[in-house]
Amino acid sequence: MCYLKTVLFVLIIQSTGNISQEISDEQPNIIVILADDLGWNDFGIHGSNQIPTPNIDALGYNGVILDKFYTQQTCTPSRAALLTGKYPMRLGLQGTPIDAGENRSLPLDTPTMAEQLRELGYSTHLVGKWHLGAACKEHTPTKRGFDTHFGYWSGYVGYYSYEINVTRPDDKTKNFTGFDLHNALKPEWGHQGQYATELFTKKSLEVIDNHDETKPLFLMLSHLAGHTGHDGTELGVPNQSRTDEKYSYIKHGGRRNLADLVNIMDWSVGEVVKKLSDRGMLENSIVLFFSDNGAQTEGMFQSFASSWPFRGLKFTLFEGGVRGTGVMYSPLFKKQSYVNRQLIHITDLLPTFYRAAGGNVEDLGNIDGIDQWDVISKNKTTNRSTILINIDDWNGYSGILGYEGRYKLLNGSFKDGLYNDYYSESYRGSENPPYDISSVMKSNVNIAIQKLRENNPLLPAKVKELRKQVTLNPCRPKNTTELFTCDEMCLFDIYKDPCETTNIIKEPSNQRIVQNLEEKLDKYLSKIVPAENKKVDILSDPKNFNNTWTPWLICDQKTQVYKYGWAEFYRNPFIKPLKCISFYL
Ligand SMILES: *[C@@H]1O[C@H](CO)[C@@H](O)[C@H](O)[C@H]1NC(C)=O
Ligand SMILES: *[C@@H]1O[C@H](CO)[C@@H](O)[C@H](O)[C@H]1NC(C)=O
Ligand SMILES: *[C@@H]1O[C@H](CO)[C@@H](O)[C@H](O)[C@H]1NC(C)=O
Ligand SMILES: *[C@@H]1O[C@H](CO)[C@@H](O)[C@H](O)[C@H]1NC(C)=O
Ligand SMILES: *[C@@H]1O[C@H](CO)[C@@H](O)[C@H](O)[C@H]1NC(C)=O
Ligand SMILES: *[C@@H]1O[C@H](CO)[C@@H](O)[C@H](O)[C@H]1NC(C)=O
Ligand SMILES: *[C@@H]1O[C@H](CO)[C@@H](O)[C@H](O)[C@H]1NC(C)=O
Ligand SMILES: *[C@@H]1O[C@H](CO)[C@@H](O)[C@H](O)[C@H]1NC(C)=O
Ligand SMILES: *[C@@H]1O[C@H](CO)[C@@H](O)[C@H](O)[C@H]1NC(C)=O
Repeated sequence: MCYLKTVLFVLIIQSTGNISQEISDEQPNIIVILADDLGWNDFGIHGSNQIPTPNIDALGYNGVILDKFYTQQTCTPSRAALLTGKYPMRLGLQGTPIDAGENRSLPLDTPTMAEQLRELGYSTHLVGKWHLGAACKEHTPTKRGFDTHFGYWSGYVGYYSYEINVTRPDDKTKNFTGFDLHNALKPEWGHQGQYATELFTKKSLEVIDNHDETKPLFLMLSHLAGHTGHDGTELGVPNQSRTDEKYSYIKHGGRRNLADLVNIMDWSVGEVVKKLSDRGMLENSIVLFFSDNGAQTEGMFQSFASSWPFRGLKFTLFEGGVRGTGVMYSPLFKKQSYVNRQLIHITDLLPTFYRAAGGNVEDLGNIDGIDQWDVISKNKTTNRSTILINIDDWNGYSGILGYEGRYKLLNGSFKDGLYNDYYSESYRGSENPPYDISSVMKSNVNIAIQKLRENNPLLPAKVKELRKQVTLNPCRPKNTTELFTCDEMCLFDIYKDPCETTNIIKEPSNQRIVQNLEEKLDKYLSKIVPAENKKVDILSDPKNFNNTWTPWLICDQKTQVYKYGWAEFYRNPFIKPLKCISFYL
């Protein structure tokens, strides 16, 4: 098998001549594990002692801790940026995330990471959340480059019920209710009652077990944890009394549940890495873990997650909304066990992986991401000096980060300053147990990785040193009575003031900076594809489809005509529901 791969590789080099020998003599497996709505302070690696995340931490301590890794402010924009390498404002996906029953999707003419990697010979799999449209079957993951998908199409589901509700378009007091767990297009009713994190882990392990070794693997495991589930308040744990016992040092019940569901997701990361190791695949893998956006400590979908010490929550463009937790490991990295302080944006992941996979990044066309492979794997200085954080024309706020990530300009704020405060405490009080380095050393991730670094083992002293390097000083203001919004523009010096306490836009010495960032923002604005958020479509009602969310439109990619299919006939009381599901699938 290996011999065959080597021969193939030589042939590829000879025919294209531009595959970098440094990367690997085989295309690496690419594993992306995504958390939902978790903040900077929900991981042990950043200095919080409250939630044990030994596997995720071990991934960072052995690999690279991405310190200036920026995501988008919410789910749909982040996933669109990840999969296309484009700023979501160029796809019309910059605004409020896609609702179940909403006719909106990733544009069909923009290729996804799965399509691009498949072109390079990868077998491609998605487990868990999609959230990039499902109005017609062409929008769904297995039509967008994934060989398989087991999971859900909408923003969240119940941790056990796999149901999601959306307000009826014709009656705000009522809901459309439907089941959303699918294997490709097929509903998977049989799994109701199984715990989502465990189910998605099991399915991911099956993907790795069944993987044909003659091909490289692209697996994206996109967890429900730590988003709230079911009715938007559920923080599902498998055994409530066990959770309450194990986390009795946490006073707040909601935060207790969050701690456990994050810890179970951490277990999942350990299982996946262990399986890669058991199958001999880890030695040629890149494993990335990150959270799609910041914490939602309060408000809609309140999960008690924490972006401490940063300002702002999910939805905002403050650091608390977009400064992502990212850790990446690969034995192929030339530099390991270090903190990378280069500016990296979520759109960079596509070209970075594409390059690592032996592709020519120029083939990706006009994207916003840049190849950061040398930046991450060798700690080289990045070519990125600016990140367009977002332009949300739907909600009317935008932001840009320039000067190597030093200065941030914000223009307007989400819903007049909603979520723009400082939330949650540090969770570093003495009631919390001390950080347990031995559990990091004994984690499945660490055990698997140590087998690959025989002569250079990770030592507890290194863990301490790295953790210290990424733990921020408490930078919050002592007195927030005069907290300002950025309805007018704000300028922050993120290096000096990571907590965004002081608006320095009026300082005369900053006027060149302000002007420069405004010009850049204006330039992007001129390229915007307007957000086209739509109302929930009355004919998407899961009642028409055996109480299951089902693509309800017929899309013709060529003519761009999207029309109703049989759902139209449900207006006719003589036609029985159920009959037509197969027509759509
Ligand atoms: C509609 O669904 C939401 C979210 O699941 C829930 O909070 C609300 O109570 C539901 N409304 C009704 C009338 O059941
Ligand atoms: C959805 O709403 C219905 C009422 O419309 C309610 O009975 C049900 O419990 C809700 N389900 C979820 C998952 O929120
Ligand atoms: C739930 O946890 C409690 C406390 O740890 C334990 O006694 C009980 O056996 C557990 N229940 C189940 C079903 O595992
Ligand atoms: C990474 O590069 C920066 C300079 O860009 C340097 O300060 C730092 O020491 C380097 N870290 C390692 C581990 O090489
Ligand atoms: C930055 O861009 C230059 C010119 O395209 C390129 O040669 C160099 O490798 C890039 N640096 C990194 C770290 O990718
Ligand atoms: C906080 O700031 C407000 C407004 O400037 C001031 O009135 C108040 O006394 C300050 N509180 C403390 C504790 O410093
Ligand atoms: C800032 O926002 C306002 C209002 O949305 C808009 O008119 C203006 O063009 C924006 N400025 C820049 C530099 O984008
Ligand atoms: C309708 O859904 C139920 C589960 O809720 C399932 O058992 C049944 O097979 C489905 N019927 C059809 C016709 O698909
Ligand atoms: C669905 O969205 C597409 C793309 O915006 C639009 O062309 C089409 O008319 C919509 N169809 C329906 C039935 O809403």
